[in-house]
Amino acid sequence: MTAGGTEADIAFTQTLLGLAARAAQRAGALLHDDRPEVLEVSAKSSPTDVVTHMDRAAEDLLRTIILGERPDDGILGEEGGERQGSSGVRWVIDPLDGTTNYLYRLPLWSVSVAAEWDGQVVAGVVHAPALGLTYAARLGGGARELVGDRVVIASGASELAQSLISTGFGYDSEQRRRQAEALVHVAPRVRDVRRLGSAAIDLCWVADGRTDAYVESRLHPWDVAAGALIAREAGAIVVGDDDPVRAPYVLASTPGIVEELMSLLDR
Ligand code: IPD
Ligand code: CA
Ligand code: CA
Repeated sequence: MTAGGTEADIAFTQTLLGLAARAAQRAGALLHDDRPEVLEVSAKSSPTDVVTHMDRAAEDLLRTIILGERPDDGILGEEGGERQGSSGVRWVIDPLDGTTNYLYRLPLWSVSVAAEWDGQVVAGVVHAPALGLTYAARLGGGARELVGDRVVIASGASELAQSLISTGFGYDSEQRRRQAEALVHVAPRVRDVRRLGSAAIDLCWVADGRTDAYVESRLHPWDVAAGALIAREAGAIVVGDDDPVRAPYVLASTPGIVEELMSLLDR
């Protein structure tokens, strides 16, 4: 589908966006309203990379809702892996982006749901219940924040020295050392740096002009699929999201500072 799309394309991607929003809101309600006192926690790739039973319950719910309406679609989810489909639509889902924040009762976590059609992300929703924010975008349709019912647009920043940049760290300690080293070159050149703890929110806050850029390396498709579309539809420049595991970094930036920031990162 091209960014404009035919009327039928637009109607179809709107249907996908509606399902993404309903599914994300139900999973968000489960995580927010039914959070038990004690979480069952287990380690994944490293002792610091944890998953809770609520991550898994939220992904199960997302799969049930999506496949209940569209049984022939594929799904790639962080906790449940890949399910092949036959419809040309594949959902890319992170049931809980920001598990560490969720574990510590910090409000920066989200449910991220994206729909790809013929390999291209055409609809995305990032729902952050503890913040009262839900971001949504359809390819070619702009980006919106649904709770406040507003269009979101990236900031007008034009000077890197006056820009607020967010970033994140992976769970592998060697990778984290390299990410911290890279930060040494960025921190002195910008207004300030934030580590929010949810890549999907990082991308949406670039979209919403709450930060000016976000950069992180070694992400996964489920971290970025919805948020990258939302950021792009809000006017940000996004690079690396087509192959977030191998790309040197995923960057979402407001256009006015992107060249300066990239030349700093590429050094
Ligand atoms: C993580 C968060 C975090 C980012 C990590 C991700 P998870 O996702 O998005 O902000 O820095 O790279 O893995 O594990 O909470 O779904
Ligand atoms: Ca994630
Ligand atoms: Ca996750």
